[in-house]
Amino acid sequence: MPNITNKSRIKPPWPKPLPYTANIFQRLARGWKSWLDLLNEWDFRIPIGELNLLGLPVFLVNEPQLVREILVEDVDNFPKHPYTLWILEPLIGRAIFSVNGDEWAWQRRLIDQAFQVAKLKRVFPAMAEATKSLIERLTKYGSEYPIDIDKEMTLVTADVITRTILSRPLEEGEAKEIFEAFARYQRRAGRALVMRFLHLPRGLVQLSLRRDAKIIRKWIKSAIEERLKYQSKKVAKSSSNPSDILDCLIMAHDQDSDRKFTLEELVDQVCFLFLAGHETSASSLGIATWLLAISPAVQDKLREEVHQVTSKQSLDESIGPNELKKLNYCSAVFNETLRLYPPVSFFIRERTESETLLKTPNQTSKCPVGALLTLSPWVIQRHEKHWQSPEEFQPERFLEEKETKWFREAFLPFGMGPRKCPGAAFAQQEAVLVLAELVRRFKVLPVKGHTPNLIGRLTLRSANGIRLRLPLIDS
Ligand code: HEM
Repeated sequence: MPNITNKSRIKPPWPKPLPYTANIFQRLARGWKSWLDLLNEWDFRIPIGELNLLGLPVFLVNEPQLVREILVEDVDNFPKHPYTLWILEPLIGRAIFSVNGDEWAWQRRLIDQAFQVAKLKRVFPAMAEATKSLIERLTKYGSEYPIDIDKEMTLVTADVITRTILSRPLEEGEAKEIFEAFARYQRRAGRALVMRFLHLPRGLVQLSLRRDAKIIRKWIKSAIEERLKYQSKKVAKSSSNPSDILDCLIMAHDQDSDRKFTLEELVDQVCFLFLAGHETSASSLGIATWLLAISPAVQDKLREEVHQVTSKQSLDESIGPNELKKLNYCSAVFNETLRLYPPVSFFIRERTESETLLKTPNQTSKCPVGALLTLSPWVIQRHEKHWQSPEEFQPERFLEEKETKWFREAFLPFGMGPRKCPGAAFAQQEAVLVLAELVRRFKVLPVKGHTPNLIGRLTLRSANGIRLRLPLIDS
C-alpha cells in the first residue's frame, strides 16, 4: 500500500474554541448554538477546569487517570447526571442510557443478552442490503451535481437500524416523517440543556421536545404491538429463532431479577436504540467521507486496501464479513475520524454520596456533592499531552500506536467502563462496510468553497450539510 508522506498529511478544519470569557451568560449564549462553543481555548490544556454555573459547580476533567476513576473505578459515586434524563425522557422514558443503579443494571443485562443473541454475523445481511440501496442511490445521482453525503449517511444508518431492529427496510415516508423528527429532537435537546442551566423548570424544558417524541413513540409502539400480536400466534417458532434485535429484546430474560421488558419498556429501549444507532453512526460516516475527500493520499491508500481484499470478487458482490475483518486500514480511518470528531462529544456525571478531592499530579480540586462533571472525548482526543500532532488526520496512528498507553486511556468515543457503548462493534462493522463499498466504486471529491460547519448538539453534526462529488471510478 502507498505510504503517506508528511507532506500529504492534512489538518482538517474544526470549530476552534473561543477566547476565554468568565461571563457565564456569554458562555451559555455561545452554547445555545453549539455545545462545543461552551469551551474556552484553555480547556484544551488544563487537567481540570472548574467553574460555577449560576450556583452549580461544574468541572471539566481532562486527565486520563481521573477520567478512568470516574468512569470505571469509582463509577457508583459518579452516576449519570439527572440532566441526561431530563433532556431524553420525553423520547426514551427511563431507558438504559439515562438511569442509574439497579434500574440501569437489569436493563443492561437484558440489552447485553439481546446483543449477544443478535450477533454481528446475524445482522450483517441487513447492513449489506441497506448499503446496497445507498450505492444504488449514489450511482443514480451521478457526479454532475454535489450531493449532501450527511443526508445520505443519515438515510443509510436509519435504514440499517430499521432493518436490524424490525427486519424490514425504511420506507420513504418514514424516512421523512420519523427520522426528521429524530433530527429535530436532537437539535432541541441541546438547547433544552442550556435552558436547564438557566434553572427553567423541568416541564418547560421538556415542552419543546414532546411533539417530536410523540411522533416517534407512536410509530415504534405500533411496530412493537404488531410484532407481539404476530408472536402470540406463533410463540414456539419465533422464540427459538429470533429474526432481529426486536425479537431478541422481547425474548431477553434477566435471571437475577426474573424480569423481561414490558411493552412500555420495550418502546423506551427501542426508541433509544433507534436514536443511538443512527445519529452517531451517521455523524461519523458523513465526516469520515469528507475527510477522505480532503485527504486524497488516505483515500488512495484505503481504496488500494479494499481492492486487494476484494480482488477475487465482482463489483456486484457485496463485501462479506470475512473480508471486512481484513480491512485494517479502513478500521483505522474510522477510528481516526472518531478521535478527531467524536459523535458524542461530552458525557455528564454527578458527584453523589460524599464530597471528594479530584487529584492530578499538578492540581487538586474539591468536588462537592451535586457537582456536575463533564468528560469530553472532543477535548481529550485533541489534547496535545496525549497525542502527537493531535490536529493531523493520521489513520496510521491506530495501526502503529495501538498498544500505547494513550490509545487505551485517551481514546473514548464509545465511553469507558460498565456504561461503555454496547453497540461499538455493530457501529464498527457498519462503518467499515459502508466506507469500503463507497471507495470501491466512487472517487470522493470535495466541493470547492464548501466546509462543513460542525456543531455539537446531542451528537456532532454539520449545520450546512456535507457536500461532496462522487464520480464513478471507471467513468
Ligand atoms: C459511532 C457510533 C456510536 C458511538 C460513537 C456511540 C457512543 C456511545 C457512548 C459514548 C456511550 C456512553 C455515554 C456515556 O457513558 O455517558 C454510548 C452508550 C450506548 N450506546 Fe452507543 N454509540 C454508537 C453507536 C451505537 C449503536 C449502533 C448502538 C445500538 C445499536 C448503541 C447503543 C448504545 C447503548 C444501548 C448505550 C447505553 C449503554 C449504558 O448506558 O449502559 N450505540 N454510546
